[in-house]
Amino acid sequence: MKAIVIEEFGGPEKLTFKDVQTPKPLKNEVLVKVKYAGVNPVDWKIREGLLASRLPHEFPIILGWDVAGTIAEVGKEVSDLKVGDEVYSYARKPTVKWGTYAEYVAIDAKNVVLKPRSISFAESAAIPLSGLTAWQALFDVAHLQQGETILILGGSGGVGSLAIQFAKVANAKVIATASPKKHSYIKALGVDLAIDHTANVLEQVRSFSQEGVDVVFDCFGKEAFTNGLKALKKGGRIVSILEHLDPAVAQNLGITASYLFVTPNGAQLKQIAELIDAKKVIQQPVEAIPLHEAHIAQEKLRSGSITGKLVLQV
Ligand SMILES: NC(=O)c1ccc[n+]([C@@H]2O[C@H](COP(=O)([O-])OP(=O)(O)OC[C@H]3O[C@@H](n4cnc5c(N)ncnc54)[C@H](OP(=O)(O)O)[C@@H]3O)[C@@H](O)[C@H]2O)c1
Repeated sequence: MKAIVIEEFGGPEKLTFKDVQTPKPLKNEVLVKVKYAGVNPVDWKIREGLLASRLPHEFPIILGWDVAGTIAEVGKEVSDLKVGDEVYSYARKPTVKWGTYAEYVAIDAKNVVLKPRSISFAESAAIPLSGLTAWQALFDVAHLQQGETILILGGSGGVGSLAIQFAKVANAKVIATASPKKHSYIKALGVDLAIDHTANVLEQVRSFSQEGVDVVFDCFGKEAFTNGLKALKKGGRIVSILEHLDPAVAQNLGITASYLFVTPNGAQLKQIAELIDAKKVIQQPVEAIPLHEAHIAQEKLRSGSITGKLVLQV
């Protein structure tokens, strides 16, 4: 099969379009014929070796963790999926080696579910990693409650734009940051207050919520995370997907701080598909780029110039 492979860490020039062996599904796996592979910032971070010390990996590596496609083969023990099913998945495995930038990927069946019926394969491939990250941050870690106020830092990104919508479904009040040109976009997603991350974030948050917010979801890190800590009310919770806070510092501040690394979860992907099909969550704009131009897609995503998501057409 054709795939985008790296033989060593480095820049976009390390991405090569190659013939490799088609994976064979294990007894608990399904083989997915990939129609679209989602592109996420973690893909270029892995390519550059930035996660090498945290994630076991084995060269050659096929990049990519998001996929939408059809089932081509099922393992002996798989009973709830069949050949031809239209599915989507966050296909991360314990060892980084077999990714979704390929014609086929074998995935543990428990992490593969029917894709949302009401959106295309391209749109579906853009959801799993971002959607699960937002879901797990809001509901598994922060335990966001109805009526609470949440500040989402990086609300216009892949993760943030789904987090905004999940928070609205949970009947929370949502403040989100974005650059000014993306304010109309996050307003359309339902934010109660769009604020500019290039101006004084704290002042803008206080104008809406004098005593601070209940929950912060940090999707950017660095100065955004520091602002997030200051924006919390006493007893508030911050979840970051970039930064770790020393528990002693969190205790001194009287807050709870957690770092999240998203994990595959088929049951949650099913719930997200249901929200999409019920039109409670809308998909972000999606641009498709051919698989062999993965280097262009990764650089474009990294530039921050896009609104929405990029997917690779296989
Ligand atoms: N730990 C995990 O499990 C996990 C999971 C998913 C993602 N991540 C990481 O989380 C980050 C976001 O992922 P993504 O897919 O949402 O990325 P993305 O689609 O590229 O979005 C990046 C976001 O950052 C915002 N941003 C840029 N400069 C900012 C600033 N100075 N302050 C606040 N926000 C700023 C952008 O806003 P504008 O475009 O409006 O300027 C945009 O909303 C990435 O670093 C990714 O690797 C971690």
